[in-house]
Amino acid sequence: MTNPYENIPLPQQVISERLIIRPSIRSDAPYLQRWWNDPEVMGPGGNLDGMEYDEKDMEDWFQRHIDCRVCTTHFVICLRAPEERPIGEFYISCDDRPLCVDFAVVIGERDLWGHGYGREAVLAYADALFSSQSCEAMRVNVHVDNDRAIRMFEAVGFEVEHVWANGQFQTMILTSAAYQLQRSPAQSG
Ligand SMILES: CC(C)(COP(=O)(O)OP(=O)(O)OC[C@H]1O[C@@H](n2cnc3c(N)ncnc32)[C@H](O)[C@@H]1OP(=O)(O)O)[C@@H](O)C(=O)NCCC(=O)NCCS
Repeated sequence: MTNPYENIPLPQQVISERLIIRPSIRSDAPYLQRWWNDPEVMGPGGNLDGMEYDEKDMEDWFQRHIDCRVCTTHFVICLRAPEERPIGEFYISCDDRPLCVDFAVVIGERDLWGHGYGREAVLAYADALFSSQSCEAMRVNVHVDNDRAIRMFEAVGFEVEHVWANGQFQTMILTSAAYQLQRSPAQSG
């Protein structure tokens, strides 16, 4: 399989203060299945009934998206302590613009929403990705009613690039330049 990101070395493991973002493995399947089938987790992204994946669907998904990949694009977000418990997923999806990546993030454990884990995961991955100096922008598609996600992405520095689907979705962008400017000592001091 051709790696669509061969010009962008995607970070394969990222560690932040409280989190580890690492490649998804088969033992993550029960977590992923529970999150994907939870209407409250998937609803904000547009899957109002959840995804209704059974065990065979999960096996098919692992074969298609994990087993044949040269470079991992799907990651599980784990709490570092006490025992690297999976709490969410982070994945890179296709963006045909050169030197850009699309991504999505989910904190699947709803009782952990609002603790800053989503923001920490996106910031940590952005930091690692832009450090490679081969990625110019990250984009994410968000439903316009997804207030929690929009607030989180704005806090990281994302801005609305355009609104589409008859006003239902917006694409938000964080450029490397905007990220570096925001993180520079002059801005934080
Ligand atoms: C969106 C999501 C990843 C956020 O993760 P999280 O860990 O809860 O996010 P954070 O705690 O880092 O930030 C959430 C922010 O929204 C705010 N918030 C919480 N509930 C809110 C609401 N109902 N309306 C507006 N803002 C809200 C929080 O106060 C926080 O902002 P602050 O840091 O300025 O206080 C998580 O809720 C999720 O997985 N949702 C389902 C999937 C999804 O929508 N993914 C995004 C599309 S790619």
